[in-house]
Amino acid sequence: MAIERSTKRIVDTNPHDEDSEEQILEKSLRPTTFSEYIGQERLKTNLKLAIDAVKKRSDGSTLDHVLLYGPPGLGKTTMANVIAHELGASLRVTSGPAIERAGDLASILTNLQDGDVLFIDEIHRLRRVVEEILYSAMEDYKLDIVIGKGPSARSVRLDLPRFTVIGATTRTGALAGPLRDRFGIIHRLEYYKEDEIGQIIARTADILGKKISPDAIKLLSTRCRLTPRIANRLVKRVRDYADVNGDGIIDTELTTSALEMMEIDEYGLDPADRNMLSLMVENYGDRPVGLSTIAALTGDEATTIEEYYEPYLLQLGFLERTPKGRVVTHKAREHLKKHK
Ligand SMILES: Nc1ncnc2c1ncn2[C@@H]1O[C@H](COP(=O)(O)OP(=O)(O)O)[C@@H](O)[C@H]1O
Ligand SMILES: [Mg+2]
Repeated sequence: MAIERSTKRIVDTNPHDEDSEEQILEKSLRPTTFSEYIGQERLKTNLKLAIDAVKKRSDGSTLDHVLLYGPPGLGKTTMANVIAHELGASLRVTSGPAIERAGDLASILTNLQDGDVLFIDEIHRLRRVVEEILYSAMEDYKLDIVIGKGPSARSVRLDLPRFTVIGATTRTGALAGPLRDRFGIIHRLEYYKEDEIGQIIARTADILGKKISPDAIKLLSTRCRLTPRIANRLVKRVRDYADVNGDGIIDTELTTSALEMMEIDEYGLDPADRNMLSLMVENYGDRPVGLSTIAALTGDEATTIEEYYEPYLLQLGFLERTPKGRVVTHKAREHLKKHK
């Protein structure tokens, strides 16, 4: 009994369509310097140090390859932009699925300049043949290519410029060991603290040119899954709501009714989350449920559940992972009772 649901969940951590209004908004909100990038202090400290060291050396050495991992919407792409900006380097952007053939990667690599940053989003989705070429390119800035076919084929080794790869992935487990080993800096992005999300909300409202009360900021920061992408989306929705129903300022009253209209509860869960948890409880009680069974219950892809629904529910203590499957916790069951 999967509920009908548009692909545009408000609390979806996935970015909405390319070139959509949201993508344009995301770009305009994206911080470009360390000082604008709120939170993730440990990551920033480490990176700042590494970047300062590179700048000091001035012997043509480049920043170590950086691997950023963690749930969607926490600021991986944003951080790649910040790193390039702070290095004063230009950023080339691609993604695992976009590089179809070995030749595609070869052409990207040979077009880089010394010091460039190459951002590879969803790096766990690189094809094996492409991955192998990337190893040696990352390791010693060489590209091995085969020219010609059959008996006359020969292999040549090309020198590449010195570049830095920034890889982003939601699933480090899915990354081949040898590829992981090529990264000198590996860092997990954490969920934000409520006050950090509050700062992001205030910043976004400010960029949108909208006044928001401190109480409304506090309220919103508990509803956005501690995820900047969702925080920004909620600010925009509440802004729209306030433009129609309010007198300009976003206050708690407006925010509360906007959240009610969006059916986002006090934990930031939407009807689809609650539906998934309810289906698990109705069918399995407190017994573990396998990922594929959950997928069958809700009608979602198993990877969607694993990458988008589950991380925050685990963080919240609403789900537990056991060797036999996922268990809905007592805390979650109590919460569901309130939202029958
Ligand atoms: N630390 C941060 N400070 C301020 N805004 C942020 C921060 N991290 C992310 N954002 C905002 O959230 C949005 C989503 O971040 P993004 O980097 O695309 O996430 P990811 O690549 O991890 O899915 C960005 O448009 C940006 O405006
Ligand atoms: Mg991204």
